[in-house]
Amino acid sequence: MNGDDKMNYQILTNYITFVGQSDAKINKFENQIPLDKGVSFNSYLIKDKKTLLLDTVDQIVMPAFLKSLKAALGERKLDYLVCLHVEPDHAYGISQVLNLYPETTLIVNPLTKRIFNQFNESNFDDRMLVVKDLEIIDLGVNKIHFFTAPMVHWPEVMFAYLDKEKVLFTADAFGHFNALEDQLYSNLENYLEMKDSMRWYYANIVYKYGANVQAILKKISNLEIDQIMPLHGFMHKDQEIIKKILALYQTWSTYGFEEKGLVLNYFSMYGNTEKLALKIANLLKDRNIKVLLYDLSKKDVTEALTDIAKYSHLLVMTPNYNASMSFPIRNLMEHLKLFGFQNRDVGLVINSSWGGLAEKELIEYLDNMPDMRLIAKPFNIKSSFKESDFDKLVEFIDEIENSILK
Ligand code: FEO
Repeated sequence: MNGDDKMNYQILTNYITFVGQSDAKINKFENQIPLDKGVSFNSYLIKDKKTLLLDTVDQIVMPAFLKSLKAALGERKLDYLVCLHVEPDHAYGISQVLNLYPETTLIVNPLTKRIFNQFNESNFDDRMLVVKDLEIIDLGVNKIHFFTAPMVHWPEVMFAYLDKEKVLFTADAFGHFNALEDQLYSNLENYLEMKDSMRWYYANIVYKYGANVQAILKKISNLEIDQIMPLHGFMHKDQEIIKKILALYQTWSTYGFEEKGLVLNYFSMYGNTEKLALKIANLLKDRNIKVLLYDLSKKDVTEALTDIAKYSHLLVMTPNYNASMSFPIRNLMEHLKLFGFQNRDVGLVINSSWGGLAEKELIEYLDNMPDMRLIAKPFNIKSSFKESDFDKLVEFIDEIENSILK
């Protein structure tokens, strides 16, 4: 399903219709995370005795969304619009929907109300119904239950649970990048690609807020969940997949890793640091250790972060530049710090021609992140690696291997 000029929607359950839209052409999410397969902005219409719409969509797909909503509603009026998350990729259309449907009440929590009013010129205060954590609204056959989920990934976020249908609406959580076509549900065939995309989303959007993710996982732990419906990407109804994605969220939110392996991040000015990076990667691969190579002059840092969230170890290699670490490596370290990365084993390789503070600065970064453990004494080279230092390099590789195998 896409956001072209179609009036399309898809009926998902007895009461829920999908009226979301995709933008297959968007090349950056939040204008900073590169996308190669677009993204979907999901929206769900519940048609019970009362009608209720969960979230709107991004600006770019609004015209198609309004057509879909109108077609899916038919002759019904829209009783409620819920804002689970006020970030503009979901809340952009709220004003338009409220203007189009003057009888609709907007369901928010106190923080949603405040942030919504900051983003919007129009004032809909007199049309807002403010709910609290665990509040329930009766729709006729189903009741809808609200759960605040602060910082997953903004402070006002809520989950909602439609009780007879046993469907949990999770805002950004359990979502992933990639535009949707006709297939709206995850399945065992698309699972692996979806998992990578879900990790990319989580590592770059939600990773910092592990404790908050833990809190909402605990809050929903007693719910019977037949389906999960997030605001991006596939819906989930295969119970095996639901179990797997809940387990992934458990791992990610406690800063665990999925697999043993080394994410080797490097930047090279003249090719000498790169030559050593490739040598280290080959030596480790010869020992059957999985190595993911990231030349940060070419790859976007968000890709490296996604693999760092997946694997147990990382290696950071930089030349000194202006007596400091290189910009791409500083960018990586800033992202790791800002996104709350922790609990990893880390190796450092420094190249210097006449000194510099790169090693000291890298160690300071690690010291300021929880449980970032140095695997071994940093390995230093002067301008280029010399075969006469091969034995020392093998010792360094031994320490990495021992750390990975332990
Ligand atoms: Fe999809 Fe946090 O917005």
